[in-house]
Amino acid sequence: KKIVVLISGTGTNLQALIDACAAGRINARLAAVISNQASALGLERAKTAQIPTALFIRRDFADHAAMDQAIGDYIEKIGADLIVLAGYMKILSEGFVTRFAGKILNIHPSLLPKYKGLNTYQQVLDAGDSEHGASVHFVTPELDGGAVILQAKVPIFPGDDISDIEARVKTQELQIYPLVVKWFIDGRLQEIQGKAYLDGKLL
Ligand code: GRF
Repeated sequence: KKIVVLISGTGTNLQALIDACAAGRINARLAAVISNQASALGLERAKTAQIPTALFIRRDFADHAAMDQAIGDYIEKIGADLIVLAGYMKILSEGFVTRFAGKILNIHPSLLPKYKGLNTYQQVLDAGDSEHGASVHFVTPELDGGAVILQAKVPIFPGDDISDIEARVKTQELQIYPLVVKWFIDGRLQEIQGKAYLDGKLL
């Protein structure tokens, strides 16, 4: 099976997937890494792992939909079974999401449905929450609104700053994302009418 990963930045989640595939923990090949940022460190990680990379820059396209059309065509040509968003910081157009319905995963640094969108760390601190976390979910046209598959919780301690919480959440992300990708690749995970199922059981 083939996986395509979309990134915009550091790519630590990408690295976890590279490692899991290399170790045989995920029975699939990372067929390409796509970035919308030329400077994304994740592109270097892909090159080191000898994974083909592709750059799609917004200014090279007439509009957002045209860019996503081109990305979709590229992915279709590869014949990817799964599209993994790993810090891809651009909202995918509705056309793209419908085209690959049930085949796109994302990881978001919050305990969804809390704190969709950006700056979740600042938001939990402002709210005075005692816990935060990460959620892996299916991607639907609603931002961070698709069915949640797996979450990991971390505590927030008095005196924590954003970077303390972020480090704790990131450690969890690197555990749960490869696991969910494995479930999908093993055919255990499905999205049916907006709901997520593992081994046929509603999550
Ligand atoms: C992660 O925190 C993820 O939850 C969010 O973007 C970040 C990507 O980090 N969607 P990295 O590029 O995988 O290091």
